[in-house]
Amino acid sequence: GHMENDMKDRLKGRRIIVFGSATGIGAATVKRLTEEGARVCAADINVEGATQVAVEAGGETFAVHVDISDEASVNQAVAATVDRFGGLDGAHINAADLRVIMEDSDALAMDLAVFDRTVAVNLRGHLLCTRAVLPHLTKNAASAIVYTSSGSAHGAEPTRPSYAMTKAGVNALMRHVASRWGKEGVTANVLAPGFTVTGEMKKSMEGNAEEAKKWADHFMARTPHTRLGESEDHAGVVALLLSDDGRWINGSIIDVNGGSLM
Ligand code: NAI
Repeated sequence: GHMENDMKDRLKGRRIIVFGSATGIGAATVKRLTEEGARVCAADINVEGATQVAVEAGGETFAVHVDISDEASVNQAVAATVDRFGGLDGAHINAADLRVIMEDSDALAMDLAVFDRTVAVNLRGHLLCTRAVLPHLTKNAASAIVYTSSGSAHGAEPTRPSYAMTKAGVNALMRHVASRWGKEGVTANVLAPGFTVTGEMKKSMEGNAEEAKKWADHFMARTPHTRLGESEDHAGVVALLLSDDGRWINGSIIDVNGGSLM
């Protein structure tokens, strides 16, 4: 556990769905939320991975398959969660198609088919998840949505147009939800991670992938710390935003990057 005893029950009884939870930041979040007492649905296109995460998390946490670019699939995942837990108090909308995360392209060279898929998952998918959870969240006096965007949304991005554009769209969606649905009890915020060594990234770095190393060096040179970010650096922040301790945080973009972008 990462916590002192007095924080263990901060999310006791909360019912939360995490979209994009089989690996990386979402997987760490599922484990952390469960540790803090929440009942969590780990939803992912990689349902085997999400199932393993749910089993490791323990408690009443369980897994479902979802493709967030598919409206019916998203609605099904949310319905399964509401059926199981009797309602919903929070959502972490974190899934992303990461083919473009290390893209080396520009507005002229970019592949439009890749752009369309990125929009379908990283932007439209976040809208679909939002639409599916809102009617349940508004039934409660206090509920919350956390989106995972990226520092790419507000930093200079000479080489990753698709990624940066969709993440900036997620920030705009978050502000819409925060301003429109606050009166109905819903807070919305963005977690904006800096470079984070997640499972896939670790694998390609160990495989000595030149591209991964280039990005890691790029961010290492910019961080005031002596290490890069890990998934666990984000999980506690998501837990805070979904808890009563984070109740007065609304409409915020929380940079979690060790100071690599300020
Ligand atoms: P990851 O690849 O470990 O996690 C992404 C998860 O989303 C995976 O479990 C994947 O199966 C799932 N997913 C992909 N497409 C899906 C779909 N259509 N439907 C449902 N699930 C789908 O990567 P990571 O790094 O943990 O990424 C999580 C979030 O953090 C993403 O939104 C990413 O853009 C963001 N982020 C990551 C950074 C990094 O350096 N790793 C930096 C800034 C933001």
